[in-house]
Amino acid sequence: MNPGETLDFPPGFLWGTATSPTQVEGHIENEWTQFTALDGGNCRRACDHYHRYPEDVDWMARLGANAYRFGIEWSRLQSAPFAPLNPNELARYVHLLECLQAKSITPMVVLHHFSNPQWINAWGGWTNPATIPAFVDYVRQLGAALKGKVHLWNTFNEPDTYACMGYLLGGFPPHNKWRLGKFRRVIDHMARAHVKVSRILQQEGGGKIQVGIAKNWTFFHAYKKWLPWDQAMAYACHYTFNKFVLDAFLGGGRRRASTFIGLNYYGRVRFHHFRPMIPASGMSLKALEKIGFVCDDMVERYPEGLAKILSYLNRKFRLPIYITEHGSASSDEKFRESDLCENLASLHGAIAGAVDVRGFFYWSLMDNFEWQFGYAKKFGLLTVDFEDEKLPRSLKPLGDFYSQICRTNTVARP
Ligand code: FCB
Repeated sequence: MNPGETLDFPPGFLWGTATSPTQVEGHIENEWTQFTALDGGNCRRACDHYHRYPEDVDWMARLGANAYRFGIEWSRLQSAPFAPLNPNELARYVHLLECLQAKSITPMVVLHHFSNPQWINAWGGWTNPATIPAFVDYVRQLGAALKGKVHLWNTFNEPDTYACMGYLLGGFPPHNKWRLGKFRRVIDHMARAHVKVSRILQQEGGGKIQVGIAKNWTFFHAYKKWLPWDQAMAYACHYTFNKFVLDAFLGGGRRRASTFIGLNYYGRVRFHHFRPMIPASGMSLKALEKIGFVCDDMVERYPEGLAKILSYLNRKFRLPIYITEHGSASSDEKFRESDLCENLASLHGAIAGAVDVRGFFYWSLMDNFEWQFGYAKKFGLLTVDFEDEKLPRSLKPLGDFYSQICRTNTVARP
């Protein structure tokens, strides 16, 4: 995207921000409560969104965002299988929805974002098929309780990342490594649960209901294209995390269960002698820069990939798409701004090419608990002073920039 260029987005486009319960709420009892991240941090207080959500909704309104993607935490609502929902916790989420409505901010609710109630974990989590009916019961009750209040539902956030980190790489609870059978079982059970709860929400949700998963899409490539082992590595990752997972959720007749596809897009991973060349795997940003890689503090940026994956998903599934997450972590706000411009230009190109994209949710509203990395990765539009008891939020330059986009429905590169 050239400086001075302006791109208009379709009328009614959703410009939102995104968070997840474990990463922002605090005071949570799930498998992450006792987890200590690489930087020594934990999620026990996080951003205290649990108490400060009215203030955070005000921030969203100040940004001019017209949508918010957030999770409802299962462990807060059900203390045992098939138990009635906890009325106090439910009331808090209903109040959050009311605060959003008062500011004309459309909610997108995520039902599962890398966490479960401890009683689910105790019986083996999603490796156990008994989790499916328990989840279906939970969603049936939640859907009924929120009837008419939520029209956009995201069932599972990045099942690929969840199953990979928990059962192949071991970075997330339950920290299993190389259990491919469990990985596949988790995906299979989640996909079956997705189909069931999608039907329930659509039939009983009240009004026009949209339901979909959020699929993380990472491109996997060989750094040196002629090295067959890196090509094989890249293909194995693509097959396992992209193809197998998409087929499980959207293949064959299962496609009919979804009314949209949520796409979480950050970039790509290139391999060199089996090594992923990304900061998140410990490579230094400096070393990567030297060989011409453009990265944030996590992965290689690959803005042109966004248009590619959008047109692929469009051709294959013919469903509307929301960008349910995109963002960057860096202390360099200028870099983040140009990265956002490049990615939005790529998105704009896909829309111009007739891909039906309905909205974009920036990850994240504020700096938060970034799973195994703790508080070291700064994805926020707002910064949070974690040293201060009161956890004050303040706008970062990128927040200001994103606000212009939300308010004008255009991206103008300065
Ligand atoms: C995604 C996750 C989200 C956050 C971002 C940076 O994979 O869904 O919770 O960690 O990455």
